[in-house]
Amino acid sequence: MGFIKIMNEKEALKELERLREEINYHNYRYYILDSPVISDAEYDRLFKKLQEIEKKFPHLITPDSPTQKVGAKPLSEFKTISHTIPMLSLNNANTIEDAKEFDERVKRFLETKEEIEYVAEPKMDGLAIELVYVNGIFTAGSTRGDGYRGEDVTLNLKTVKSIPLKLIPPKPPFIKGGEGGFYPVPSRVEVRGEVFIPIKEFERLNREREERGEPAFANPRNAAAGSVRQLDSKITAARPLDIYCYGIGVIEGAKFKTHWDILHVLKGWGLKVNPFIKICKGIDEVIKYHEDMEEKRDIIPYELDGVVIKVNSLDLQDRLGILTRSPRWAVAYKFKARQETTKVKDIIVGVGRTGALTPVAVLEPVEVGGVTVERATLHNQGEVDRKDVMVGDWVVIQRAGDVIPEVVMVIKDKRNGKEKPFKLPDKCPLCGSAVIKEGAIHRCTGGLSCPAQLKEGIRHFASKRAMNIEGLGDRHIDQLVEKSVIKDIADLYSLKKGDITELERWADKSAENLLNQIEKSKNTTLSRLIYALGIRQVGEHMAKVLSDNFDSLDELMKADYDSLIEIHEIGPETAESIVTFLKEGHNRNVIEKLKRAGVKTERQEARSKKQEDLRFKDKQFVLTGTLSGFTREEAKALIENLGGRVTSTVNKNTDYVIIGTEPGSKYDKAKELGVKMLNKDEFKDLLDRK
Ligand code: IVH
Repeated sequence: MGFIKIMNEKEALKELERLREEINYHNYRYYILDSPVISDAEYDRLFKKLQEIEKKFPHLITPDSPTQKVGAKPLSEFKTISHTIPMLSLNNANTIEDAKEFDERVKRFLETKEEIEYVAEPKMDGLAIELVYVNGIFTAGSTRGDGYRGEDVTLNLKTVKSIPLKLIPPKPPFIKGGEGGFYPVPSRVEVRGEVFIPIKEFERLNREREERGEPAFANPRNAAAGSVRQLDSKITAARPLDIYCYGIGVIEGAKFKTHWDILHVLKGWGLKVNPFIKICKGIDEVIKYHEDMEEKRDIIPYELDGVVIKVNSLDLQDRLGILTRSPRWAVAYKFKARQETTKVKDIIVGVGRTGALTPVAVLEPVEVGGVTVERATLHNQGEVDRKDVMVGDWVVIQRAGDVIPEVVMVIKDKRNGKEKPFKLPDKCPLCGSAVIKEGAIHRCTGGLSCPAQLKEGIRHFASKRAMNIEGLGDRHIDQLVEKSVIKDIADLYSLKKGDITELERWADKSAENLLNQIEKSKNTTLSRLIYALGIRQVGEHMAKVLSDNFDSLDELMKADYDSLIEIHEIGPETAESIVTFLKEGHNRNVIEKLKRAGVKTERQEARSKKQEDLRFKDKQFVLTGTLSGFTREEAKALIENLGGRVTSTVNKNTDYVIIGTEPGSKYDKAKELGVKMLNKDEFKDLLDRK
């Protein structure tokens, strides 16, 4: 308690009205304008106060009170609501020609040759709904249904944060229509709009559903529809729904001249209207708008499937009228579809440059968004299992922007029993090495002998900070590997001049230079050699730690997990990775070949004096999220070893925040204070930098 003084009903009513108005205003600032003017804590205090007074005077609770936005008792079924004016659908235009034809039809019908003024709007891909406001109070909300009658989803829509329970009456003097949208709230208005789920929120919702073993939604539209059509409004309340309003049904006591005015008046009442709406003079401007929006599609945080073109003048709209169930004055000018259905002919295995095995669906070719798609990634075995994809299945695939096409879901109704399940192999399909599982990823342990990993391995081996072989460019590496001149990194040392001069654009002289460089690289330090091998988790710094603790590569090869973990700075993941690499038969052969070629594998360098390297002296670090490749203890030890300190809270004395996956509030704090943030790789670089 504590908030409310003893008050009588009259005082309570006054206070309730004041609080509701204030909270509604802050809701509007937060959910509609995206620009709050009070802190969350202050808001919570106002809200709590309102709740407490309402608890004491329950008969004073009104349907528009902000407390009514949290969900009500579950329903056993939806009632139906009739739309006073039918909710129409739109005809589609799929090409520029279709859009031009629409414009010509409009002109023909109106018997004019003049350019038509259109309003162009994003076409949100969600669920069409209608909201009824009586004297500014939200009284009923329904789905489109069959256009004439929809489901009564009032309780659910009440929980949508950006649907106001009360329209904001603008301050007089009113401007009838027009950009300002200062128009008195009418006695009744039916507002139409699209409820949707932003893409990020949709992905999060699906992740949570998958974790709970529930089926994922195929797309944000299904997720929005599924959320609005819930009998339990508490479930809807927990879904991140949003809305953009795009039109009206019946309106009593108001008259507008243009659709543009309607949109601005809706906005003036505190309803959310899409900010990308635009007036276009003539169809060419519409076509340009469509192009612009299709380009923006990938950066807009909610799904769009096209733009809607509407004749702006309401008089002209009236004259054009309706043709069966769609208006003649509007058209949905669609973007290229991103999802299609097709058949999985096979599932093959791709090996990436880090050795990760990826299941790839080979598809019956299908056009998605203007590109023929024949393959789609299934990411990893976990995804195959979760989505239950089998060879022979019909699937929904998706392609967005430049992203690799992916399988979204299986159409299980189309199964005929002949589908075959898929499992990743336990041997690498390219080199036959053992495949191990690291978290969600199956990885080939072939390392340097696996062709997929070889090119990258050679690049790394020859790089400046590793064996420092100058003059060996990427194109040459590609050619040497593709022509099978080099089958592992040790083959570099048996290269003949002829092998090189045979490649494109190699002169005698440069071939000689390269051979000299290769020869010179044999005389290297143990730490460089260890680093050059490209063992996962072993960067320059870790290579130095190893060369400080072992006199030669042979000795290191004898070390087991237990002896490695004994070494300060080496954690379980790193030890595991070193042992796995050095146990693998192919890798041992390569090392043997290197030795035979005359590469120095003993330590020649002096042991580094660790204590002297105190690069992080006086530096404060904070770790947040999971850092793949390091345990928390490992990361802490690495920092402390270089003289740094790890603390748990971000403040102005913090020098670096190391950000892992799913960082917590420390990330926001660091951002707020402008503290330097490093991801895992940048952190590794910082450790390795000398
Ligand atoms: S106007 C008569 N405007 O697209 C006009 N519809 O068939 C009727 N939609 O499910 C709709 N964004 O909910 C209009 N800016 C927009 C829209 C939009 C999405 C949806 C609408 C309906 C479908 C049209």
